[in-house]
Amino acid sequence: MSSILVAEETLDPNFVPPRLVRRDAELALIVGRYRSALSKGLTYHQFLTGGIGSGKTALARKVAQELARIGPLNRRPILTHYVNCWRRSNDRLVLLELLRAVGVYLPDKGYGVPDMLDTLEQGLRKTPAHRIVLLDEVGALVRQETRLIYLLTRSGEVGLGSISLLMVSPEDVLPYLDAASRSSFGSTHRLALPRYEAEDLVEILSYRAGLALRPGSYSPDVIEQIASLAAPTGDARFALELLQGAARYAEESGSAEVEPEHVRSSKGSMMPTLSEAKLEALGDADLLILLALSRSLRGPRTRTPTGRVRQSYASVAEEYGRAPVSRVTFWRAVRSLELEGVIQVEPSTPGRPSRLGMDEVPAGLLTTLIEERFSARRRRKS
Ligand SMILES: Nc1ncnc2c1ncn2[C@@H]1O[C@H](COP(=O)(O)OP(=O)(O)O)[C@@H](O)[C@H]1O
Ligand SMILES: [Mg+2]
Repeated sequence: MSSILVAEETLDPNFVPPRLVRRDAELALIVGRYRSALSKGLTYHQFLTGGIGSGKTALARKVAQELARIGPLNRRPILTHYVNCWRRSNDRLVLLELLRAVGVYLPDKGYGVPDMLDTLEQGLRKTPAHRIVLLDEVGALVRQETRLIYLLTRSGEVGLGSISLLMVSPEDVLPYLDAASRSSFGSTHRLALPRYEAEDLVEILSYRAGLALRPGSYSPDVIEQIASLAAPTGDARFALELLQGAARYAEESGSAEVEPEHVRSSKGSMMPTLSEAKLEALGDADLLILLALSRSLRGPRTRTPTGRVRQSYASVAEEYGRAPVSRVTFWRAVRSLELEGVIQVEPSTPGRPSRLGMDEVPAGLLTTLIEERFSARRRRKS
């Protein structure tokens, strides 16, 4: 029953999309640097940092793909090897992985690093090539006082042929390296990826939804809704997980389209910011404002004009026998709900008044929770 997620495999974290949106400049820059060094018979080492979900791994893999595609430079083919150091966090485990890459399978135990290096050298000799070794999550390795990085940056001198490193990590690991290794990563060998802003995430989500979802099964509004949920962290992985979750909820509910309510379900299932305990802590006015907002969001809307929420808040207050608070107090309550991460306030623009959104849990669910709470309070009073 895949009526919406027609190519869900393209949302798998290991899938490298054909194109990386808004990273063309970085891709061209890094590929160019390797290319010019390798074509002169030199090695080149690059260090790539950036926040979580900023596309480091995707970009590094793309660099490797591009270089492999460019093909022989200086009469040698380019072979690339990917190692995730978070899973192989010491020199021996990384070496075992590199040995496998050259077709040598050693048992996990019983060999010291010097033996393994000798074996690697023989393996590398069989197929002379430029090797690009991608060390992802390299922080885990660096914290184990690695010698291997030093040896690999000196591959020519230590008989390992032409090995170029592409090291990737969210944190700057260079201060933890020995001075000799560090010198291989001079200032032109470092690149920090800028974080994705909301509009970058919109582009990324649109492109990836185009690959994974049936055309017409999602609207630009829903893409924007997801992008604004991920914008505070700039995390593209989180954005894509939200998209996938929302599409699954939509399919399960038999809907032909991903609706705002499915996005909220997806968000609520991943990170419940709006717990029952939090609701319990809110005052009457806050709850009634939330109720007015969530009632207005049960339809196809992602946002509601603030003025309209204030009007319906007034009638909701009346419904529950409370005097509505003043305009100023209403705004103060809206701001504090925003600070708590419960609602989103979209500022007004010249052509449009300000709007409110609530993407933490399904609006239908929130409506029920608040209504139940007020009925319970009423019962306790009577
Ligand atoms: N510019 C982009 N265009 C398309 N997809 C992207 C882009 N940047 C990141 N992604 C996707 O977002 C997810 C997270 O990216 P990833 O490279 O794993 O982040 P990091 O390694 O920095 O934590 C991956 O599924 C990746 O394919
Ligand atoms: Mg990564």
